[in-house]
Amino acid sequence: MRYSFTIGALVSSVFATRPFLNEPDTGLLDKIGYNFPVGSLPELEDMVGLPDFEWAARNYLPIVNYTYYRNGAAGEWSYRNNLEVYQRYRFKPRMMVDISGIKSTLPTTILGHNFSAPFYISPCAKAAYGHPDAELNLVKGANAGGILYIPSRYSSLKMETIAEAAAPDQTLFAQLKLSNDDVASKKLFTRAEAAGYKAIVWTVDAPGGSSRQRAQRFDVGASDEFTVQTWDKLQQYRNWTSLPIGLKGIQSVADARLAVDHGVPFIILSNHGGRNLDGSPSPLEVALEIHETDPSIFQEIEVLADGGVRYGTDALKLLALGVKAVGIGRPFMFSNVYGQEGVEKVIDIMKTEIAGDAANIGVADLKSINPDYVKWQPNFWYT
Ligand SMILES: Cc1cc2nc3c(=O)[nH]c(=O)nc-3n(C[C@H](O)[C@H](O)[C@H](O)COP(=O)(O)O)c2cc1C
Ligand SMILES: *[C@@H]1O[C@H](CO)[C@@H](O)[C@H](O)[C@H]1NC(C)=O
Ligand SMILES: *[C@@H]1O[C@H](CO)[C@@H](O)[C@H](O)[C@H]1NC(C)=O
Ligand SMILES: *[C@@H]1O[C@H](CO)[C@@H](O)[C@H](O)[C@H]1NC(C)=O
Repeated sequence: MRYSFTIGALVSSVFATRPFLNEPDTGLLDKIGYNFPVGSLPELEDMVGLPDFEWAARNYLPIVNYTYYRNGAAGEWSYRNNLEVYQRYRFKPRMMVDISGIKSTLPTTILGHNFSAPFYISPCAKAAYGHPDAELNLVKGANAGGILYIPSRYSSLKMETIAEAAAPDQTLFAQLKLSNDDVASKKLFTRAEAAGYKAIVWTVDAPGGSSRQRAQRFDVGASDEFTVQTWDKLQQYRNWTSLPIGLKGIQSVADARLAVDHGVPFIILSNHGGRNLDGSPSPLEVALEIHETDPSIFQEIEVLADGGVRYGTDALKLLALGVKAVGIGRPFMFSNVYGQEGVEKVIDIMKTEIAGDAANIGVADLKSINPDYVKWQPNFWYT
C-alpha cells in the first residue's frame, strides 16, 4: 500500500500543473506589507522589476482600468504562453570574456533612426486609463530614455497632440489599424505624415475582432468588425503616403517571407500580447521558426517582436535569434500610473538588465549576440 502511495504521489507531482504566475513573487509584499491598502500606490523606489508595476497598477487603479490593460483573448492561453515561453529555453553562458564595453553597445538603429537601446514602447491604446496625462508621459519618457515610442491609433490623445509633445529630434512611428473606410484611412496617413511621424506601423493581426472575456465583463472589450487586410490593400496604401509602412502582427514564416517579397521594410512579430487570437504563437516561437527554416529574413528586412517581454533575459533570447529590437506593452502602461518617472524607471531597469545579463552570458558586444548563446531545445519540466 505504502509503495503504491509513494509511486502515486511521485507520478502526480511529476504531472502536477505548476501554477501560472502572473507576477512572480520576488518579495514585493514582504517589503511593503501584506496589508498594503487597496487603492494605494507603493513608492516608486519599491518597483525593482517590470512585474512590480503590474502589482502596483492592479492595487491602485479601478478594476475597469486595470482589466482593460491586463486582458487577453478567450481562455488567455496565448497571453500566458507569451510570458512562460521564455523559460522553456536556457542560456549557454560563456565565461572568461572581456565584457567591460557591453553597456556602450546597447544603442541601435531602427529603420536608420538612432536609439539608445534595442527595445521600444509598443502601441497600446488608452493611456488615460492609467494617468490623467495619458500618452504625454510615454512620449516624454521615451525621449528621456532615448527609445522609440509608437503611439497607438486608439491613444487617449490625438496623434497631433502626442507629436507636439515630442522633442524636436525625437523619432515616433504611428500605429494605424485601418478600417474598410478608405476615405477615413487616407486621412489617417495624411495626418500621420503632417504630424511628423517617421513610419507607419500597420497592425494586421485582428481582421476578425476578438473575444476578450475578461474585458467584456467590464464593458471594455474589443470591436468585432471584419476588416479587409490584403497585399493589394498594402499597394493601395503605399500610394497614399511617402512614409515606410511596416506590418505588425506577423505570426508565420510564410507571411514574413511574403513581406520580404512585397518590399515591406520591417515587420513586427506579435500576437498583440495574446489579446486577439487565442492559440496564436508567441513572437519567440515565430522567431525560432524563422531561424530554423528561413533565417535570411532577419538580414533581408528589419524584424522587431513584442509579447511577454518582462526581463532583460527575455529580450536577449529574441535578439539572439536575429530580432533587431523588442517591444514592451503592458509594463509601460502599468508604469504610467507613476507618470513620466515610472516610464523612465522601466527603461532604466530594462537597460540595466540587458547589459548585465548580456555580460553574464559572455556577450562582449550586443551586436554579436547570436543563436549559439541559447539552447533551443525546449525544457518542459518547468513550464
Ligand atoms: C492595453 C493594450 C492596448 C493595446 N492597443 C493596441 C493598439 O491599439 N494597436 C496595436 O497594434 N497593438 C495594441 N496592443 C498590443 C501591443 O502593441 C503589443 O503587441 C503587446 O502589448 C505586447 O505584449 P506585452 O503587453 O506582453 O508586452 C495593445 C496592448 C495592450 C496591453
Ligand atoms: C546615428 O549614430 C551614428 C553613429 O553613432 C552617427 O554617426 C549618426 O550621425 C547618428 N545619426 C543621427 C541622425 O543622429
Ligand atoms: C480610470 O480611467 C478613467 C477613464 O479613462 C479615467 O478618467 C480615470 O482617471 C482612471 N483612473 C485612474 C486612477 O487613473
Ligand atoms: C497607385 O497609383 C497609380 C497612379 O495614380 C495608379 O495607377 C495605381 O492603380 C495605384 N495603385 C493602387 C493599388 O491603388
